[in-house]
Amino acid sequence: MAKTLTISVIKADVGGFVGHSDVHPEMRAEAIRLVRDATRRGLLIDAHVDACGDDINLTMTHEHGVDSEAVHEFAWNTFLALSDIAKRLHLYGAGQDLLADSFSGNVRGAGPGVAEMEIHERPSEPFIVFAADKTEPGAWNFPLYKIFCDPFNTAGLVIDTKMHDGFVVEVHDLIEHRRILFHCPADLYDLLAYIGTPSRYVIKHVFRAADLEEPVAVTSTSRLSLIAGRYVGKDDPVMIVRSQSGLPAVGEVLEPFAQPHIVAGWMRGSHNGPLMPCAVDQSQPARFDGPPRVVGMGFQLADGKLIGPRDLLGDVSFDRARAIALELADHFRRMGPFEPGRLPHEAMEYTTLPEVEDRVSARWEPLAEEPAGRTPVPAGANGP
Ligand code: F6R
Ligand code: MG
Ligand code: MG
Repeated sequence: MAKTLTISVIKADVGGFVGHSDVHPEMRAEAIRLVRDATRRGLLIDAHVDACGDDINLTMTHEHGVDSEAVHEFAWNTFLALSDIAKRLHLYGAGQDLLADSFSGNVRGAGPGVAEMEIHERPSEPFIVFAADKTEPGAWNFPLYKIFCDPFNTAGLVIDTKMHDGFVVEVHDLIEHRRILFHCPADLYDLLAYIGTPSRYVIKHVFRAADLEEPVAVTSTSRLSLIAGRYVGKDDPVMIVRSQSGLPAVGEVLEPFAQPHIVAGWMRGSHNGPLMPCAVDQSQPARFDGPPRVVGMGFQLADGKLIGPRDLLGDVSFDRARAIALELADHFRRMGPFEPGRLPHEAMEYTTLPEVEDRVSARWEPLAEEPAGRTPVPAGANGP
């Protein structure tokens, strides 16, 4: 069996410039210096540093497998070094995503987001790293469904017989900490019953039906708000999607982003808004700390070396999607603090909103009882 290769994308927001909008050039330069050093030392085969908004992403290739302590520790130490720069420059939210006091074997659950897959590199291995800012991991549910399950998006599901066996979608329940596999197309409707609630059910992996070992897509699934017990910034997810030769083509993987879907996040992680595809150098949120952004960086692998990236969502063919997203942004902003512009009450549980409830709780009074003799309408009875 040929040697396996691991692609790890690990990201964190360890300080914003200005506010929550960008990564400071000094932090980016230090991250590049550190990954070059790790490549020279032989820990990594190759690495690329990029950012989406205020989140810095390390795309790394290596032979240490998924959940490698050495690779995770390197990422943790890199983010620590970057947060030192953020602290020195008094950048905003310096060290924000480093929730644990120290590294303890793995960055999962400690703040940073992780998407990793162990693969056998194909003779030609095109893949895309997506990164989003001002939204949550469930934001990938909609595009992943379109890419791997919807023949109106992915022509190959009809035209390429290699795809006729379909794909298997692994969904995680972030509240109950459990997982399930849906074999699509047979399980399409069951899948949709869950992933339509992206705040709770999140697609973690997609596999070919014939191979449940080697993923063709993986996402980061942490929920910082659940980890920290209180809102500390959205999780600003990343994902890796492999492409071509029996998998969706690059253009089929990009296609869902031509119709900006509505995601949770945006200002204070408390609003719904369109996910706007953009170029990497246009990924810095501005209006109302948004709108939420997504970038797509395309790579080829050459024996573990990263050839690329190409900035795929920056292309002119997504200009109309950007215009639609801005139009939708206008509309959602007009709603101000009203749902569904603002997130539903349950989703506000981990923000500072409960503090408002504490402040006014004593002023709520019980309503008077219904007048005696008036019988409540029985459950299920239809009114006139
Ligand atoms: C959203 C986000 C920002 C902040 C907002 C307020 O994910 O990071 O919209 O929530 O700028 O930030 P604070 O409360 O730190 O002033
Ligand atoms: Mg931030
Ligand atoms: Mg961010």
